[in-house]
Amino acid sequence: MKFGYEKLKQDGAARRGTITTAHGTIDTPAFMPVGTAATVKGMLPEQVAETGAQILLGNTYHLMLRPGAERVAELGGLHTFMNWDKPILTDSGGYQVMSLSKLRKITEEGVTFQSHVDGSRQHLSPERSIEIQHLLDADITMAFDECTPFPADEETAAESMRLSMRWAVRSKEAFQQRDGYGLFGIVQGSIYPELREESAEALKEIGFDGYAIGGLAVGEGQELMFQTLEKTIPHLPEDRPRYLMGVGKPPDLVGAVMRGVDMFDCVLPTRSGRTAQAFTRRGTINLMNARHAADPRPIDPDCQCYACRNYSRAYINHLLKCQEMLGPMLITRHNLHYYQELMAGMRSAIEQGALQQFAVNFEAQYTGGDI
Ligand code: GUN
Ligand code: ZN
Repeated sequence: MKFGYEKLKQDGAARRGTITTAHGTIDTPAFMPVGTAATVKGMLPEQVAETGAQILLGNTYHLMLRPGAERVAELGGLHTFMNWDKPILTDSGGYQVMSLSKLRKITEEGVTFQSHVDGSRQHLSPERSIEIQHLLDADITMAFDECTPFPADEETAAESMRLSMRWAVRSKEAFQQRDGYGLFGIVQGSIYPELREESAEALKEIGFDGYAIGGLAVGEGQELMFQTLEKTIPHLPEDRPRYLMGVGKPPDLVGAVMRGVDMFDCVLPTRSGRTAQAFTRRGTINLMNARHAADPRPIDPDCQCYACRNYSRAYINHLLKCQEMLGPMLITRHNLHYYQELMAGMRSAIEQGALQQFAVNFEAQYTGGDI
């Protein structure tokens, strides 16, 4: 089958659609759990699917270092290796090199760096990143880019963005078109509207199957992120999916969907699960807190997830105090279910032309801090 995006319904700037890939269809707006090291930490693949996830994110950077892309390919690709038969999107590695590795050196050619795993000297370029993503058998391959650090003055941001655009040309040339497989470009340009427009226009000229918005959620805050989305999305094609990388908190997802974003990934539901933080309609709760020690209620009485159907806050608090691994596993399962329910709620609201009302209701209930 052909890779493609179909828009089923529009409500304001928000879109309800589907993405077709070699390993299945994704209902959008979609949230992708992060499976960095060929696992969504603490979750079996069938449990991830049970939360409603239809696609996972994997990482070029981590898998090239361990176990190695050629090794994954020999073992049948990432789907077989990790026992996940649904779609996989892989990030291209540049972002992770900058945040995790040591002794980084960026040139026009690419980036050399020291592995955070064993200190070995490594290299990534647009050509090698795309080759690795082919070896992994990613349904969606990301162009190799530089995530411009924040803050950056306009000249620095322009140079960084233009390097990413030259790398985007090389990524497209290295990508082997196959039915069911897609390549996404990544818009950069920091918080500068003219640079975002220039980047979007450059990517459209090259031509991609989808368009990601990178370089956000890097410390600029929600207001600047939303402003930048509003200045970027009008320059992206209507008939291709839009992916906001590394976002975010529940209110970020709602605001970004209202502005026309179709896809998200974030470590928040899984990482928070490992630090005892659970998401609910009303805000987050910390299950390590002693006030839960004798509480017979589930994490969220309104939630129908496996953890909430079967376990009390008191039991999860006990597991956490004993450092039992089931504690983080149950909270992660609840959090991923919460994120998928939030996306399903937005999809159905868009279908009914009621996303504005959904957002008002969401905001009225959700408090930022712990409840
Ligand atoms: N993840 C979060 N932000 C970015 C970005 O700007 N580029 C890439 N490749 N990945 C990201
Ligand atoms: Zn739950």
